[in-house]
Amino acid sequence: MSFTCSCSLAFTVRQIARALLGLFAALLLAAPPARGADVSNGEQIYATICATCHGTDPRLNENNIRRAANNPSLIAAAINSLVPSMAFLRGVLSTTQIEDVAAYIGGVVNPTTGTPILNASTTTMNFGSIAVGSTSPGQSLTLANTGTGALVLSGITITPPDFVIFSGCPGTINAGGMCFISVQFAPRAAGEISGSLTISSNAATSPLVVALSGVGAGGTSTAPTVVEYYAPELNHYFIAGSLAEQAFVDSGGAGRWLRTGNSFPSGGSVQVCRFYGNTAINPATGQMYGPNSHFYTADAGECAFLKSLFDPNAASLQFEGNDFNTTPASNGACASGLTPVYRAYNNGFSRGILSNHRITSNLAAYQQTVAEGWIGEGVVMCAP
Ligand code: HEC
Repeated sequence: MSFTCSCSLAFTVRQIARALLGLFAALLLAAPPARGADVSNGEQIYATICATCHGTDPRLNENNIRRAANNPSLIAAAINSLVPSMAFLRGVLSTTQIEDVAAYIGGVVNPTTGTPILNASTTTMNFGSIAVGSTSPGQSLTLANTGTGALVLSGITITPPDFVIFSGCPGTINAGGMCFISVQFAPRAAGEISGSLTISSNAATSPLVVALSGVGAGGTSTAPTVVEYYAPELNHYFIAGSLAEQAFVDSGGAGRWLRTGNSFPSGGSVQVCRFYGNTAINPATGQMYGPNSHFYTADAGECAFLKSLFDPNAASLQFEGNDFNTTPASNGACASGLTPVYRAYNNGFSRGILSNHRITSNLAAYQQTVAEGWIGEGVVMCAP
């Protein structure tokens, strides 16, 4: 009897202590915190305290509230040191209450269930008349997820290579989120040029196709030069045939990529297939599946084979679009009058490092790379 009594008394004391600790919070809140689900408690705290300065809908990110999603330590830091105007909450909200509000914001900002809806700001882009060999200003396309679930982008491709895309979109656009894509027109030939930008996702309307058009102006059509870049930190090579992309890389937009001084002319009847690592986010790591490396092939069979290997839920190569024109090698050689272009592979798969290929018409550069341990794959395409 007395045992039961002291037990329930201890419990009551603890309840009183907790009530006292929460007194300030209780005073601030219009109603006492809801018992039961943490998230509904968090919702109430949000509506009563946070909404004043962060708006009623956390998805709109007023005063950066989206950062609070599932991040109680950032909320605590905001209260305790980062944000002076939140200092009045010091000692007012308990750790549990902060966790509840972080969980509520997380659920609203990044719901795990629900349906994504992809809204594009436009489905046609006309670049007008642009001189052959020059590059238009960028036109932007906004992708917004107006649905209630995460929008997973499984592919963004553009064709033909007269149109160039710079995507600022991550693999996943959370509900209420948006991102921007910039498209430029760099006509390689005179005349009307039309193309398309295709966005594949888990939205019901996938794929979303944006029609691209423009006119290449000027008498002569100049085939662009394919320029080679090197990233010293990665020991990776990259080539780009589009003037717009070269300008972007030269500006540092893709990170520290330096021109090697090697280049070869584009031209030929076959468009080079270009791949890049899977940009979807791996939920286990929060990073894109990758690999963070490009691959190029002028071999239609190899292109089709790689397309068939693409796995949206694993590290694999994703078709990015067609790049410059060339002539495929035939039995590892080029017809006379054409310049051999070589490919070396860093054997990343076996060495447990990121895979990368070097593609160059500079035989000495190719041989030097092979001497450093890369696998020489021989002649893969033929430049004019
Ligand atoms: C009196 C106004 C006010 C209230 C109430 C308020 N905040 Fe803030 N909060 C701000 C301001 C101002 C900023 C700073 C925005 C910036 O500089 O980006 C901010 C920033 C934040 C940040 C971002 C910190 C960072 O540096 O990334 C978080 C997280 C945050 N608030 C959470 C909350 C939560 C949760 C509540 C409710 C419990 C809340 N705030 C209540 C005014 C307020």
